[in-house]
This record gives sequence, C-alpha cells and structure tokens, in this order.
Amino acid sequence: MRILITAGPTREAIDPVRYISNQSSGKMGYALAEAAEKAGHEVILVSGPVNLAPPAGVETIAVESSHEMFEAVRDRIGDSVDAAIFCAAVADYRPKNIAAEKIKKNSDSMTLEMEKTEDILGSARSVFGFKGTLVGFAAETHDLEKHAVEKMQRKGCDLLVANDVSRKDIGFDRDENEVRLFFADGRDERIPMQSKADLGVALIQKITEL
Ligand code: CTP
Repeated sequence: MRILITAGPTREAIDPVRYISNQSSGKMGYALAEAAEKAGHEVILVSGPVNLAPPAGVETIAVESSHEMFEAVRDRIGDSVDAAIFCAAVADYRPKNIAAEKIKKNSDSMTLEMEKTEDILGSARSVFGFKGTLVGFAAETHDLEKHAVEKMQRKGCDLLVANDVSRKDIGFDRDENEVRLFFADGRDERIPMQSKADLGVALIQKITEL
C-alpha cells in the first residue's frame, strides 16, 4: 500500500522569532512510518519540526505551520494513497496576524488574536475527496470514549486511536503509549502499554486489515 502519515507538532508564527507550538515529539508518527516501511509499504511522511532522524526508505516532507502541513497533505493525498494516518498534533488556532518585525516589550500585557487553522483530517473526505482508509488520533483528558467516537464520525475516519493525556506515564513525549481503538463499524479495543515502536507495528497491522 501507499501510506501517508502526518507527525509531530506544528509551529504557528507570532513574529519573526516567536511561535506557538505544543509538546508533541513526533515519536508515534515516526514509529508508524518505520513500521509501515518495514512491512513493505511505500510511505510519505509529512512532519512538523521534531528532533528525530527521517526514517530510512521513507519520503519525508518537512513542514512548520499547520497551513504548510495542510498544503503538503492536499498536494499528496491524491497520489494513489491507500491509507492516511493523521498522527500530527496540529495547532487548532494560530495568531491572526504575524508581526513583520519582532514585537517589542512596551506594554505590561498583550493580547494575541487567534484564528482557527484548517482541520487537515477533517478535510480529507470533504475537501480532498479521499476515499481510502482514514485513521485519526485523539488526545483527550476526559470523557475519552464519547469524544473519540464523536470525532471519528465527524471526521469520517475508519479508525480513531485515542490517547488519555491526563496520564503522565503515556502519550506526549514518552517512549511508551497505551491507546484505545474505536472502529467505524462499532468495534472498540484496548491496546496495552508498550513501546511506541511495538505499537506502531501493531497499528500498521490493524490498518492493513482494514
Ligand atoms: N487534526 C488535523 N488538523 C487540525 C487539527 C487536528 O489534521 N487542524 C487531526 C489530528 O492529526 C488528529 C485529530 O485531527 O488525527 C485530532 O483532532 P483534535 O484536534 O483532537 O480534534 P478537534 O476536532 O479539534 O477537537 P478538540 O475540540 O478536541 O480539539
């Protein structure tokens, strides 16, 4: 199969030297890319800024902002992609205006006006017309099942991989993860705590079955 994967955080510029980002390390997305490549699939990895080496044998497209990630996915998802896995922690909002010059510290407080970013996963079916297997991720702190199932249906996913980010021992910037899977056909499954590398292999297996 040809598999497109998004990974890592995005950076949303405030001015030429500052940005808003999040704690995603990219480890889960890179583990998925490596597992998919080792299983014999062709992989396109669209990655936000991370401290990880591009996996061998994987076409890696480096992006910074959510808008650049949106454009990279839009440009490649039509290239006979069989499965798309949206693992990136994309910013939901970005500064409405990017200052052309470094903002000076000349008042006691400042307000940043933010606007919504494009929902890349949410655009896969409705905007890009993607017909292949669609996999989303969700990081939740509460009511995990309710939010995960709602997100899966709203974004047209075949599978949603949910992380409980209220727990400090798994998820963001950790080497291990424990997730719950929610399938569009109503099945759900718990995948026990394991390294992200092993979890990548297990998830690629499940996605291949879909
Ligand atoms: N995602 C995306 N583009 C965005 C935001 C999220 O592609 N601008 C993808 C992520 O890669 C992940 C899933 O959508 O697969 C996570 O969605 P999330 O941001 O948690 O869902 P929202 O619909 O924004 O809901 P919430 O209010 O919980 O943030």
